[in-house]
Amino acid sequence: MNAKYIGIMDEIKDQLSNGTLVSGCKLPSVRQLSEKFSCSKNTVMKAYNELEKEHFIYSVPKSGYYVVNEFQNHEDKKNAIDFLSAGPDKDVIPYVEFQHCINQAIDTYREELFTYSDQQGLYSLRVELMKYLQSLQVFTNPERLFVVSGSQQALNLLVSMPFPNGKNNILIEQPTYYGFIESALIHQPTTFGIDLTMDGIDLERLEYIFRNNDIKFFYIVPRFQNPLGHSYTNREKKKIVELAEKYDVYLVEDDFLGELDQDLKSDPLFSYNPSGRVIFIKSFSKIFLPGLRVATIVLPELMINNFLRYKFSADFNSSVLSQGALDIYLKSGMINGHIKKIKELYHNKMKLLQEACKLLLPEHASFTKPTTGFYLSVFLPEGVTAKQVVNLLRERNIYVDDASRMFLPEYKKENLLRLCTSQVNESQIKPGIEHLARCIKFIDSRKNYFTQHNHLLF
Ligand SMILES: Cc1ncc(COP(=O)(O)O)c(C=O)c1O
Repeated sequence: MNAKYIGIMDEIKDQLSNGTLVSGCKLPSVRQLSEKFSCSKNTVMKAYNELEKEHFIYSVPKSGYYVVNEFQNHEDKKNAIDFLSAGPDKDVIPYVEFQHCINQAIDTYREELFTYSDQQGLYSLRVELMKYLQSLQVFTNPERLFVVSGSQQALNLLVSMPFPNGKNNILIEQPTYYGFIESALIHQPTTFGIDLTMDGIDLERLEYIFRNNDIKFFYIVPRFQNPLGHSYTNREKKKIVELAEKYDVYLVEDDFLGELDQDLKSDPLFSYNPSGRVIFIKSFSKIFLPGLRVATIVLPELMINNFLRYKFSADFNSSVLSQGALDIYLKSGMINGHIKKIKELYHNKMKLLQEACKLLLPEHASFTKPTTGFYLSVFLPEGVTAKQVVNLLRERNIYVDDASRMFLPEYKKENLLRLCTSQVNESQIKPGIEHLARCIKFIDSRKNYFTQHNHLLF
């Protein structure tokens, strides 16, 4: 019976991938299949039971078996070289392990996962998060932790809510994470920018802005920044925290890739003032699964009640199913093996990307050199815009990002290109950069023509 039931399963899986069977469609009856495959009804039942266990099909009593979901066809994307998408590398997403956690969470928490829940986040998850954050040198307690629906939600709420210092304006590294710029543009606080390069920020300028501009908080991405890949030294972080304390400015620390740091001595800003000056945000989107929409924020005690109101008004509570499954994933220790794996993977990809840039990019283009992380940025030669490069490469099925939207309008630069390593596979890095180099040279050599005929080409 063994081989036969597997043969039936394979045929059904083929039909799911070639589109013959689609979501909701009814499968042949057990009798029909047993005739078709000249086998017993038990063999067909066994194949259907196995497919049901794998969640490909479901049964309706007295009616039959139905398709849950057809397979997706990813063929068209296979040949693309994608330096644009910023989700985690799909090859290291721990689907199977996490499936166990979801099942285990449902068994453990049952109806608790499917009803309204603690607005601050499942308490057991907050305890696990507290322990997890210790590995990042963030020591706090579950009472100061909130579970939020992605760090984007936390940032958006912080932009809109009042702060204990009673100040109104926000300071942002230039360039910075686009989602934060969007929140600022929507809520319209007065914003100030401070230029960031791979040499950091001008600390005297920072002090000047803190002293004179009624700054509510400074949004800072301290490690492997998006889009430059910049990281601050411990000395700089300590100084920034001191200045924030001196001028009563809050620091919002978005440590989205901290786990990838190869330098074990690198500390978060939070560790220089754990009592509330630094608001620490940890996303699980880049290092784990963005679709969970789970992140955590550590708040000063003074802000807890107010944050609760803003969080409640945004979405009541974050997905409890995601929280329950993440709770089990952390508790079981599965995350440790995963972090070890991705740490090496992204470090390797960044190395390959930099080798390729060094070897292939024209001399008058420069690029940032992060030790690891997802992002590296290329400064294009004068007269070549990121938009032109993005459009030309897209025609060759290569995707890169124009970083002009990662600046506040008054700081905008048109010549910054962001490359993300997370979804590009290692063997595509060098060919991708070869195309990029050719494209930059092509546009550079026809600068005048491109400027005059921009509208025709793009
Ligand atoms: C620096 C930074 N912070 C936060 C986010 C948003 O992450 P989440 O999915 O947790 O909302 C991103 C996403 O790209 C990011 O790059």
